[in-house]
Amino acid sequence: MKRLGILLSGRGSNFLAIADAIDRGRITNAEISIVISNRAEAAGIAAANTRGLATRVIEARGRKRAEQDAEIVACLREHGVALVCLAGYMRLLSPEFVAAYPQAILNIHPSLLPAFPGLDAQLQALRYGVAITGCTVHFVDEQLDHGVIVLQRAVPVLEGDDEAALSARILEQEHVAYPEAISRVLSGNYTIVDRRYVANTSHNATLIEEAQ
Ligand code: GAR
Repeated sequence: MKRLGILLSGRGSNFLAIADAIDRGRITNAEISIVISNRAEAAGIAAANTRGLATRVIEARGRKRAEQDAEIVACLREHGVALVCLAGYMRLLSPEFVAAYPQAILNIHPSLLPAFPGLDAQLQALRYGVAITGCTVHFVDEQLDHGVIVLQRAVPVLEGDDEAALSARILEQEHVAYPEAISRVLSGNYTIVDRRYVANTSHNATLIEEAQ
């Protein structure tokens, strides 16, 4: 059984999509062993408590990032976490945190990276005038919204879309994308070539061999 650790700061709908996917057998051989938030008032923490999951609030207030992250890493280790899933966790991770879980931290971002990293990605996409945006699940590295992409789902921008309408349609796709990406990563059935995620099929194995 692989243990997941969830980090969130707010609503927690992606966390709930992951928890539901585990309950429904869409993610197999996994359990959520801890849900951590940097904000005590995060709705996601209340939802996790309601589901009977272990929760912990580790506040950032007045502390150095490295200190807060060391406490988070210790908590994740205490709970035997193998894969960390950032689900609307609105803090940058310290290099020490990233190094503690190499290629074992996932994040979901509401745009087709590398377009529109950072805050308010959906509004950035609207203002830029793109016709297609979406969401990205990626491994976390030391740079903001930058690591290897596991999967993306596209969402068209429709005439008359405002930030709320577009965000809601992207969120629907996030709830499909995140469980699927977690499933893929937990299967271990992939290779990272340069910065590309490549699923291990016999066809891909030949291509990778030929390229090396
Ligand atoms: C989601 O849209 C997620 O992609 C975004 O925050 C929202 C969290 O919603 N994350 C980021 O922007 C990270 N850069 P949720 O709390 O309902 O899962």
